[in-house]
Amino acid sequence: MTGPDPLLTWRKEFPILETCTYMISHSLGAMPRGVREKLTAFADLWNERGIQAWEDAWWEMPLTVGNTLAKILGAAPGSVTMHQNVSVSESIIASALDFSGPRNKVVYTDMNFPSVMYVWEARRKLGARVQMVASDDGITVDTQKLLDAIDEKTLVVPISHVLFKSAFIQDVAAVVEKAEKVGALVALDCYQSTGTIPFSLEKLGVHFALGGSVKWLCGGPGAGYLYVRPDLMGKFSPAVTGWAAHARPFAFETGPIDYAEGIRRWMHGTPAIAPLYQCQPGFEIIQTVGVQAIRERSVRQTTRMIDRARAKGFRINSPLDSSRRGGSVIVDVNDGKSVCQELIRRRFLVDYRPGAGVRIAPHFYNTDEECDALIDEIAAIAASRPAGAPAANRS
Ligand SMILES: Cc1ncc(COP(=O)(O)O)c(C=O)c1O
Repeated sequence: MTGPDPLLTWRKEFPILETCTYMISHSLGAMPRGVREKLTAFADLWNERGIQAWEDAWWEMPLTVGNTLAKILGAAPGSVTMHQNVSVSESIIASALDFSGPRNKVVYTDMNFPSVMYVWEARRKLGARVQMVASDDGITVDTQKLLDAIDEKTLVVPISHVLFKSAFIQDVAAVVEKAEKVGALVALDCYQSTGTIPFSLEKLGVHFALGGSVKWLCGGPGAGYLYVRPDLMGKFSPAVTGWAAHARPFAFETGPIDYAEGIRRWMHGTPAIAPLYQCQPGFEIIQTVGVQAIRERSVRQTTRMIDRARAKGFRINSPLDSSRRGGSVIVDVNDGKSVCQELIRRRFLVDYRPGAGVRIAPHFYNTDEECDALIDEIAAIAASRPAGAPAANRS
């Protein structure tokens, strides 16, 4: 006799699952029940201890919470600090690099998340030469094309581990190998892989990594993170900085900054504390469930959904090979935006991305029945629509 599915026993920790079919964890992971208590603990400490809250816990939290996350990221303690979001973390990295010399090329792909592109494009005025490697099919990035673009003039390669639009998994190891060979740095956006694909930043050898907690980590907004490879931490002087990055912040020294040692050097001003409380239940649950178990479930359920959708005649805009696919499935459907709106009205929570389609993200708390019902609902809505509206990948 088989017992209850161990992953599904976590469903009770996510109240929203009782009210809808929640398949949008690539965008906003479901809120763990424990978040409410954590945010109350934050408010209580502030209320009861006032200014002493900083000493009690708050001042160290970007690093202590970073250490919890480091376990999921496969990173050493002391190599991760928390920031607000990817845009901030990416800007800190960019501000640490010097584009005034001959090595001033930034190589990225057009499948990066837009925030990331905007940060690097903005460096053009400081001398950056930006080379964008285009996807041939809007789903994948040709690894060889990317590797060929990385040369002796390349300073940094900001790439996504899993592409947000298609869930394609990039070959990070190959990119790091090429970057190391020519002396370039890799800044890995692992937002779409953390918490759904097992990996180790240490083993990958990336120079920098960053992401947020909003999605698969079920940690909510405001708890972004930045990893710096320990041997590189002291070698850079980020220009996006502040007093929390000073060696003696409470001396309030005037003039130029004397940077702190270690990952503190990569901080800036007063940290946003409430998100660092709110993200903890999600981190704890993901770590307890285990990313390997989450991945196994995800591969099975995404494959199941793809098979069902294809059997109904839908085109899939994510890789069919599960070893190259992250946690999402993108179904191309005529008039995808309005199909998505109708799904949400019927309490199937998914999203839509132009040029991609309806994005679906089963997480460890979803059942097989929910996966089947969602695909059936898409088919039912599509069948009720007039034919001929443009499909997402052609719009
Ligand atoms: C791969 C990836 N990077 C970054 C972001 C978001 O960037 P930011 O944290 O700056 O909002 C997202 C989605 O929101 C994403 O999917």
